[in-house]
Amino acid sequence: MRSGQPELATRGLYPNDQREALSPSASFEIHQRARIRLPSSLCKPSLRTYFDWEDSWNDDYAKRPALLDLFAGGGGAAMGYYLAGFRVVGVDLKPQKHYPFEFHLADALTYPLEGYDAYHASPPCQGESNMTPVRYRSRTPTATMIQAIRVRLIETGKPFIIENVTGARKHLVTPVKLCGSQFGLPIFYHRYFECHGFYCLSRSCHHNYKPIVASGGPNANGWGKPRPHASVATRREALRNDWMTGEELNESIPWQYAEFIGKYLMEAVKRGKA
Ligand SMILES: C[S@@+](CC[C@H](N)C(=O)[O-])C[C@H]1O[C@@H](n2cnc3c(N)ncnc32)[C@H](O)[C@@H]1O
Repeated sequence: MRSGQPELATRGLYPNDQREALSPSASFEIHQRARIRLPSSLCKPSLRTYFDWEDSWNDDYAKRPALLDLFAGGGGAAMGYYLAGFRVVGVDLKPQKHYPFEFHLADALTYPLEGYDAYHASPPCQGESNMTPVRYRSRTPTATMIQAIRVRLIETGKPFIIENVTGARKHLVTPVKLCGSQFGLPIFYHRYFECHGFYCLSRSCHHNYKPIVASGGPNANGWGKPRPHASVATRREALRNDWMTGEELNESIPWQYAEFIGKYLMEAVKRGKA
């Protein structure tokens, strides 16, 4: 290991020709940072143990550009967009009691889209996921939902993102791939982001340390064979996401991915308003 720069290598910040492989058996160190802060107007009493919260942010929060989070789930994507500077409003067909932001119980394919500065959509991926047994895949029309939501979002004329899993990337238009290894996270989930109205440059993905979870791509067990999932407690700690249940975590994207791509989206929103 190049002395003094091990962390850079771990995070994939060396160009390919300079990167030095870590031992696959090296255990990944989980870095703890300060907890996420929310304005108190958002922070439901039931979620206050998970977040720090502050009164003085309320006015500022109301003035932020608004992002509509379609197929919101437990709010993994939402948290990233919030950290990138958006005011986030979520829509999901099922009640989401842990969703940390304003929430509407509704069908994303018919919910009114007017009045937002940007959009994110994560249609359910079970129809294309290698985690779903083949015989159940036809129950979820992932490709049809991606196409339907794309048509609606194009009509808004605003920048937007459609996200999905590796199996669905053939239904996305020139998507950007994000992986936990690009963020120094001990998970190798691959997620694909179709970006409309802006460009996003992603860092290269590398799998040269041992993850706690790998899915959706080549890993120690071969392509498409996920390693057994780590415990919920381990995943919550590793992803710095302690407000979700295990089931919500399974469906969510790491908020770090959405924060990264959300910063590009925010630039596009600002350009649109300038
Ligand atoms: C992949 S999960 C979303 C995960 C979320 N983006 C996150 O990062 O936490 C897909 C969600 O879509 C919801 N869903 C399925 N069909 C829907 C529909 N027609 N309208 C709104 N939500 C729907 C499911 O209830 C599920 O919560």
